[in-house]
Formats: sequence, structure tokens, C-alpha cells
Amino acid sequence: MKSPHKETQAGVWTLEDFQGQPELRQAGDKPGTGVRADWKSLRLPDGANSLRNQPLGRAVGKDIRTAVDATAGLGYDTYALALLGVQVLAWERDANVFALLANALARSQSDEKLSAAAARIHIEHASAHTRLPTLRTKVGFTLPLFTAREFVAPDLILLDPMFGGERGAAKPSKEIQALTATVGADVDADSLLDMAIAAATQRVIVKRARLAPPLAGREPDWVIKGKLLRFDVYRAGAL
Ligand SMILES: C[S@@+](CC[C@H](N)C(=O)[O-])C[C@H]1O[C@@H](n2cnc3c(N)ncnc32)[C@H](O)[C@@H]1O
Repeated sequence: MKSPHKETQAGVWTLEDFQGQPELRQAGDKPGTGVRADWKSLRLPDGANSLRNQPLGRAVGKDIRTAVDATAGLGYDTYALALLGVQVLAWERDANVFALLANALARSQSDEKLSAAAARIHIEHASAHTRLPTLRTKVGFTLPLFTAREFVAPDLILLDPMFGGERGAAKPSKEIQALTATVGADVDADSLLDMAIAAATQRVIVKRARLAPPLAGREPDWVIKGKLLRFDVYRAGAL
């Protein structure tokens, strides 16, 4: 059944099992060649240091300790935030994409090189529309972001909704095709911006294709430009 928030595009990808691991495959794909998230591809020679100079690292800045990745997808940005030393709570609402996200996290937890950053990540199969209003600021709260049942307002909220299927080619195209065909355009994303600005304590970052209009038509406070993508940064209002 078609979900009301999606405009699903042609091409059917199904979630299949290969040796106990989930992968998204199209008709004709051989088992083991399907789409999975591979966070290893984000490993950089000197880790957080080189990431800090890249557009996402520059958009995040130095003072961010906790973040919600509200539209996690395959978790590349989730992992990049964790690599920067940030504790991340990540939400993904699509069940198939969430299965790949959960698998990527599980594999990273048992990978010698990825496990330290993976330990800073907590994921939930959840909708940001439902979860953003549950974030609360607690004065003097000292536990990590995601150990509380009623979550603490994070320093940062990252939004990266699908935009009409048009994306920069920062990731292998098969992944983009699978994601586009599976979740379509996130046509209900505009309303996330106000909610995020109200819930974060420091900033909201919206990842956009370089030429896409700003989310909800709202001009950002500043912009960090990459080759194919840009990061629109908004000062946040919660306290
Ligand atoms: C462009 S992808 C995110 C890619 C991700 N930044 C990465 O690095 O892999 C957008 C994802 O957000 C999810 N999404 C969109 N709206 C959402 C919402 N309200 N709550 C949770 N997930 C949402 C979609 O299902 C899709 O998987």
C-alpha cells in the first residue's frame, strides 16, 4: 500500500536476506550484490580531523556534543557525526531502510576500527514528526542523550529528507537508486524544520542538493557549500 507521505517512484527493490544479513535487491540481482550501508567507506586517514574540514564537519562546528539525526536513511551522516565525537540519536521511519541501518550499526559495533564511534550511536525505527515533540530540555541533566526515556533536547538536529529524488552523487548510485525507489520523495518534510528549530539548543543543519530551494522556503542563517551538496544552518531556539 502506498504511504500518504510518499510519492514512490518506479523500480521495485525488496528486502532480502543474504547469509543472515539484509540487503535491498532488484529483480535479477544476484544474492550478495544488493544494497547495504557500508560505513567503512567513510573512514578517513586521520578520522575526525579531516572530517572537521569537510562541509558537514564545518557545519557542525566544535561545540556540538549531542545530536539527533532525524532522517537517518543508511546512516552515513549518523556515523560521520559519531566520528566527530558527537553522541547521536538517529530516527528512520521506513522499515526496509531501518533494517539496513540497524545492520550497519550492528556490523560496526563488532568492527575493531568502527566500534568506538558506533558506541556513540543509538537508532530507533521512528518518525521524526512524532519524536521531535518528545524532546525536552532538562536543566542539569548529565546522562548521555539517549539513555533517558524522555529525551534531552540535543545541541544539534540534522535533517536530510529526500528531495524529489534528486541527490548529489556523494554515495554510490546504486544506494541512491535503492533509497529513491524505496522511500520516494519526503513530501511532508517542510514541517520538520520549525519543530527542529524549536527542539535543538544550538543549531539545525539541513542537507540539500546544491541547487535545491531551502527547506520550507526558509532562508538559513548561513550556508556551507560542498561540490554537490550544501548544508543550510539555522540557529536553534530551545533552552
Ligand atoms: C536522503 S535519506 C537520508 C540519508 C542519510 N543522511 C545518510 O547519510 O544515509 C532520507 C531518509 O529520511 C527518512 N525520513 C524522511 N522523513 C522522515 C521522518 N519524518 N522520520 C524519520 N525518517 C524520515 C527517509 O525514509 C529516508 O530514508
